[in-house]
Amino acid sequence: MDPPNQPKSLSTNLFYLFLLLSTNLLTLFISSTFYSSSSCSLNPISSTTTFTKRSSPSTTDSDGTGNPETPQATIDLPSEFLAFSSGQVLPLGFNTNFDSDTFYPPVGQACTRFPDELSRFMSYKVNGSCPDDELFAQKLLLKGCEPLPRRRCRPAAQPDYVEPNPLPTSLWTTPPNSSVVWTAYTCKDYTCLINRVKTQKGFDDCKDCFDLHGREKNRWASRQSIEGSLDFTIDEVLATKKPGTIRIGLDIGGGVATFAVRMRERNITIITTSMNLNGPFNNFIASRGVMPLYISISQRLPFFDNTLDIVHSMHVLSNWIPSTLLHFLMFDIYRVLRPGGLFWLDHFFCVEDQFLDVYKPLIESIGFIKLKWVVGKKLDRGAELREMYLSALLEKPLKNSW
Ligand SMILES: *[C@@H]1O[C@H](CO)[C@@H](O)[C@H](O)[C@H]1NC(C)=O
Ligand SMILES: *[C@@H]1O[C@H](CO)[C@@H](O)[C@H](O)[C@H]1NC(C)=O
Ligand SMILES: *[C@@H]1O[C@H](CO)[C@@H](O)[C@H](O)[C@H]1NC(C)=O
Repeated sequence: MDPPNQPKSLSTNLFYLFLLLSTNLLTLFISSTFYSSSSCSLNPISSTTTFTKRSSPSTTDSDGTGNPETPQATIDLPSEFLAFSSGQVLPLGFNTNFDSDTFYPPVGQACTRFPDELSRFMSYKVNGSCPDDELFAQKLLLKGCEPLPRRRCRPAAQPDYVEPNPLPTSLWTTPPNSSVVWTAYTCKDYTCLINRVKTQKGFDDCKDCFDLHGREKNRWASRQSIEGSLDFTIDEVLATKKPGTIRIGLDIGGGVATFAVRMRERNITIITTSMNLNGPFNNFIASRGVMPLYISISQRLPFFDNTLDIVHSMHVLSNWIPSTLLHFLMFDIYRVLRPGGLFWLDHFFCVEDQFLDVYKPLIESIGFIKLKWVVGKKLDRGAELREMYLSALLEKPLKNSW
């Protein structure tokens, strides 16, 4: 039942090694940034003091306690961070639901590993306007400070905000430029985002997605896929279940949420997770009139066990994710799917050898039933890289899924 045990403990160890190394690299980074800046500063001594002090919280933290109330750690954690995350006594006393009389609001355990960024992120005027620093905030979140601890200020917004287009027009209409704060992105309006495939060099996540009349128009939409194709269609996936029994679900890393829009046309409610990687994906999804969810792939999915009918993910789950994290994520998908629920793993990609050694056994170990399993070559970067795709339709067993 548990073949991945061996490789798992190995990869767990590698994961911790990686954490250890990255922590040390971070320290090195902080110290080198710091020393190079202090060489032009007139006050190297006070800077050195700061550095020593700053390193203490992450040291305290690496033993896993993460307790902000130890005196050493409180030295320079931002006061607003402590105001939020420290224990807060329940006004009505002990609560049996909590089994406690104190509330510890959650923040990402890794936040305190980045004391400099955390200080910067948490220095805002309480009750005032938040800094317009989305790009910086997202980097902090992606490093593991998730959920972000900023809570008591008003986020940047356009002064001339325009209300969204009404449904159903909004589903396939480019939203107003003024619905987005553009500071964090290379493009400063939707016209630029739509044209960036032609006008901008270099890689961008979902580069052609904002053009609703380009490739998005036809994704998953054809009636039937070609035999052996990696591109399943929504209709053939839904046809594997009794009509109407797929009603609610999740699209992980769903770009501009065309999947959710297509499903909405079939009266199915899909929540789409997305980051804002050089584009206002969350605003765009919301403007279309479907539900965005701003969480990274390392966050535990915020759904209860055995609740969703379908989980879909395209192009996001792949070999850039540490395999231990991927193992956690796959189990989390299994957890939130109801028995009989579908996991549509759409264009997972990796290198051929990795697939056989790591990913195939990993995916097979979770406990899904394979309804469809198609492997194909990924040639966009050249055949010599031996990259490949897997598209799979997996089902959580209806009986005995526990
Ligand atoms: C913010 O507003 C709350 C509620 O009115 C108030 O208690 C608090 O003192 C204010 N904080 C600051 C820093 O202005
Ligand atoms: C967005 O801005 C661009 C550039 O200013 C403009 O050409 C375009 O018409 C605007 N789009 C909308 C929907 O207002
Ligand atoms: C979606 O629901 C509406 C309202 O109940 C219904 O009229 C429509 O036929 C449904 N569409 C599909 C594709 O089931």
